[in-house]
Amino acid sequence: MANDITFVHLTDLHVGTPGVDDPHLFSDTGATLSTILDLVESVTPRPRFLVASGDLTNRGDAESFRELKRIMARIDIPVIYALGNHDTRSGFYDGMAEQPHLLETPYFHDRVIDGIHIVTLDSSTPGQIGGTIEPEQFMWLESVLDTHPDLPKLIVSHHPPALGDEPDLAHWRTLEFADSKRLAGLLTGKRVIGILSGHIHHDRVSVWHGIPVVVGMGQHAATDILHTEVLRMVSGSSFAIGTIRSSGLTVAFVPLPSDRAELNRYPLDLLRQRNAIASLPAAH
Ligand SMILES: [Fe+2]
Repeated sequence: MANDITFVHLTDLHVGTPGVDDPHLFSDTGATLSTILDLVESVTPRPRFLVASGDLTNRGDAESFRELKRIMARIDIPVIYALGNHDTRSGFYDGMAEQPHLLETPYFHDRVIDGIHIVTLDSSTPGQIGGTIEPEQFMWLESVLDTHPDLPKLIVSHHPPALGDEPDLAHWRTLEFADSKRLAGLLTGKRVIGILSGHIHHDRVSVWHGIPVVVGMGQHAATDILHTEVLRMVSGSSFAIGTIRSSGLTVAFVPLPSDRAELNRYPLDLLRQRNAIASLPAAH
């Protein structure tokens, strides 16, 4: 690689629907996104691309995606979008991509920018908090990983993979365990320099089967990881500046000022129940 590549990682933008009072929107995410875009303009060297790794909107409706598109219109560098559990595929295709006929088609895609092969998964699963990858998406991934074999690869997935050796009761936080295992098998030996994710709303770096997994806090509300008996959301947001060198990936987090005031509490039992219900096989 001739030169270092700089990029920006945003996640969990949770842009709201203009004019709609949303009780599940805890901060002014439109204002936060605008502030971050101001800061991105001052990043040097100039970022070659920007990744937005899902939960682009809070409600997933087309109007929210139109609002996101309006705010992002000022950015003149390529933006890689992924979908998260708060998004809907139909809302994205209608409001953002202007391809409403695609309806519930998973939005997975790949692109080469400045010698970096960026492979974006759609880990959203309608009606479910946790992430899954459909069999046809795995088939696509297997073939796409063999293209550009000499290029370093960045994987974008809203849900980070499950890190443990066995299924976790809290798998609503991750890609499902079986999908995570299958993903690990496919990515091994493919020049993957990192996975960019969100979903859990705190800055976190893991090394998973030798691959760095970078999770951003996002722009809506931060998880207070000091409380484990409840899902306590506090004010907080960040974005990250990535640098790709021939030696590998660096990610530097840029936290925005925050008073860490409590915004909401979710009982964990409720979340587990909801995920268990969503995971039941559909009645035919
Ligand atoms: Fe989120």
